Amino acid sequence: MKRIACMMALAVAIASSVALAAEKLSLPKGYQKWAKSGEKVVTDKNSLFYGIHYIYVDARTMKAYQAGGPYPEGSRFVVEYFNIREEGGKPVKGKKNMIVLMKKDKKQQETGGWLYAGFNGDGTPSAVDPVKNCYECHLKEAKDRGFIISRYAQFR
Ligand code: HEC
Repeated sequence: MKRIACMMALAVAIASSVALAAEKLSLPKGYQKWAKSGEKVVTDKNSLFYGIHYIYVDARTMKAYQAGGPYPEGSRFVVEYFNIREEGGKPVKGKKNMIVLMKKDKKQQETGGWLYAGFNGDGTPSAVDPVKNCYECHLKEAKDRGFIISRYAQFR
């Protein structure tokens, strides 16, 4: 009996850690209906940000964004990145190649209280180290703005 209880506790622990991973690794439903920034084009091939990207901000996050923080628990940002295609000498949106997510989550103490996650262009999770691949740069660029680097001005 004791053994069964033990196994059940273990099963629950495994199930909840799977749920946690799933929560971490899925894009918010309907984010493409959130407020969307203007298009940002970086044509410098040496730049880490080469490509075309858009930022999406959850409606409930907008007020804090306009004020430059502080951000309430659950605040969310998504960025979609696209390759650049030349069309008549002009850079236009090509294939989607990456999606990133930030979600305010006080449990994520290692990364300033934000969950950082990366996805491939098709929305499947990509392997990122949230500290080394994300937080270190956001910390450097926007420590005094709640780690959010872009500005609301990009939405007008
Ligand atoms: C080398 C620096 C750097 C790294 C590394 C980096 N970012 Fe960013 N991130 C930026 C910059 C710069 C912006 C603002 C882009 C703009 O203004 O259009 C940004 C914007 C964002 C935004 C929109 C909210 C905001 O801060 O403006 C999210 C979400 C985001 N990044 C998530 C991530 C995730 C997840 C990772 C790791 C997989 C990551 N970033 C890695 C520099 C970085």
